[in-house]
Amino acid sequence: MTESRDICFRTRDLTKVYQTGETEVFALRGVSIDIYDQEMMVLLGPSGSGKSTLLNILGGLDHASSGEVWFHGDVLTASDDTTLTQFRRDHVGFIFQFYNLIPSLTARENVALVTEIARDPMSAEEALALVGLEDRMDHFPSQLSGGQQQRVAVARAVAKRPGVLLCDEPTGALDSSTGVQVLEALEQVNKELGTTTIVITHNAGISDMSDRVVYLADGQVSHIEEHATRKPAKELSW
Ligand SMILES: Nc1ncnc2c1ncn2[C@@H]1O[C@H](COP(=O)(O)OP(=O)(O)OP(=O)(O)O)[C@@H](O)[C@H]1O
Ligand SMILES: [Mg+2]
Repeated sequence: MTESRDICFRTRDLTKVYQTGETEVFALRGVSIDIYDQEMMVLLGPSGSGKSTLLNILGGLDHASSGEVWFHGDVLTASDDTTLTQFRRDHVGFIFQFYNLIPSLTARENVALVTEIARDPMSAEEALALVGLEDRMDHFPSQLSGGQQQRVAVARAVAKRPGVLLCDEPTGALDSSTGVQVLEALEQVNKELGTTTIVITHNAGISDMSDRVVYLADGQVSHIEEHATRKPAKELSW
């Protein structure tokens, strides 16, 4: 389990309603959870259960309809867009299913784009070494495998030393063995930097590498499972 049980995010009665024309979709129906500093959390649940919606609200990419989110004691749900943008910039790294690297830039340059504008970044070289790509720094995305490209995206997300890493199906586009390399990179970042990490996945097998699994169903937390020990990412398959 995590060494520290300080709370990173706290949500209370969080709801999200999407209004499209006459139709209201209740994406979140009262989510109240605590997410601990430095933990590795997996978010599981059927398609449409609200996983991405929850992650996007935590990361300040979207607004809740009602309820509260605190980040280390600050109320995010009361923040305006400028404050949320600053929050994201300072504290959050995102990883999505597709890597969105710039094709004309090398791995090093893709990461450097971020380190140039961050306050206390690690070097692009250091970030790439953290994800095991020290010997691929000068490769272009087209010269890298899908798993390697996603590890560049991980390096890019963590180079600014965010307290939080939010990953929405980071292995969704990858087969099991390349996906494992990405998960090993996330594991490494979580261990080395103590980054609070939330991973959305459809693969229940991935949850074994986490401290806790939060199950969402129909916009609510159905149950939470705690793991006394984490399975090393390299032993996972699906
Ligand atoms: N921008 C939007 N406008 C309208 N409805 C939306 C919007 N985004 C999400 N929804 C709806 O909210 C619900 C939750 O969506 P969400 O994307 O959070 O699910 P998810 O658990 O991430 O699903 P998946 O596993 O398919 O990615 C779904 O019913 C979805 O259709
Ligand atoms: Mg989703």
